[in-house]
Amino acid sequence: MEKKNIDWSNIGFGYMQTDKRYVSNYKDGAWDEGTLTSDATITISECAGVLQYAQTCFEGMKAYTTEDGHIVTFRPDLNAARMADSAARLEMPVFPENRFVDAIKQVVAANAAYVPPYGSGATLYVRPYMFGSSPVIGVKPAEEYQFRVFATPVGPYFKGGAKPITIKVSDFDRAAPHGTGHVKAGLNYAMSLHAIVTAHGEGYDENMYLDAATRTKVEETGGANFIFVTKDNKVVTPKSSTILPSITRRSLMYVAEHYLGLEVEEREVYLDEVKDFAECGLCGTAAVISPVGKIVDHGKEICFPSGMEEMGPVTKKLYETLTGIQMGHIEAPEGWICKI
Ligand code: PLP
Ligand code: COI
Repeated sequence: MEKKNIDWSNIGFGYMQTDKRYVSNYKDGAWDEGTLTSDATITISECAGVLQYAQTCFEGMKAYTTEDGHIVTFRPDLNAARMADSAARLEMPVFPENRFVDAIKQVVAANAAYVPPYGSGATLYVRPYMFGSSPVIGVKPAEEYQFRVFATPVGPYFKGGAKPITIKVSDFDRAAPHGTGHVKAGLNYAMSLHAIVTAHGEGYDENMYLDAATRTKVEETGGANFIFVTKDNKVVTPKSSTILPSITRRSLMYVAEHYLGLEVEEREVYLDEVKDFAECGLCGTAAVISPVGKIVDHGKEICFPSGMEEMGPVTKKLYETLTGIQMGHIEAPEGWICKI
């Protein structure tokens, strides 16, 4: 397979149009057979449900070139299941989970020339999404939907790659109790834009959101879950019904326990105790594990002992083990790696 002539090591996290994408339409109560297309544009009603009332959800995953030259994806069945949960919460029809995984495989295979080579630091980001396409003017679900998957090569989500970032405790909330924080609804991201633009304007890389009800507990950032490491090497991650159940975080907790022999804990984490942790990282498909060096809470600085130059030692081990599994040089647990 001849790869595209792209400067893989210098691409950022952005959109680059690739050759093929998958599309399936839902009409009269059923999904059509679906197909790959070269057409990267969408034509829909001016009154489409997605345009009026934001009826849309999405997923994010990556395809990797392994050390021995295969193309693989990581746990796509979990993305399929989460998208089913998102669709149900937004009153959208579920795209069948087996067809979801098949669509991912088709899109990755059709864009194999865009899957960055092993060791380049880049990956192919795969974006499944779904939206209400038929006209809606009274507030109600659309009757017709489109499911799509496109792919785009990406580099690191945070500029500087593995350099620790600085984040602020946000004055805005991301998700309400009993709201949509636990699903991947586009609306969650629309309402986070003001918060992230504000944070960037103040010189921070990201926001730490607190629980909206009490504003005492750590939730997540706009696009990643938190992991913390205690001074005695326990891996702790916030438990909350209003954060997105990150597949990366779930995988890391497994890796910490079963590969690294560390104690792990998923529990409520209070902002007050964050100063006592030794390391902090953001985890997600896009973020992988991005180390956090400093958190600023209204002028009060929490500086982790791991500092602003490199990942802390436990974060680094987690990063190396997870990416080793994804790139095929560490044996994966059963079912984690999906060969294209
Ligand atoms: N939290 C939010 C709000 C996200 O958008 C994402 C990205 O998908 C994550 C967490 C990380 O989830 P995952 O590890 O499944 O990519
Ligand atoms: C992902 O990690 O896949 C996400 O969807 C996060 C997004 C903010 C880029």
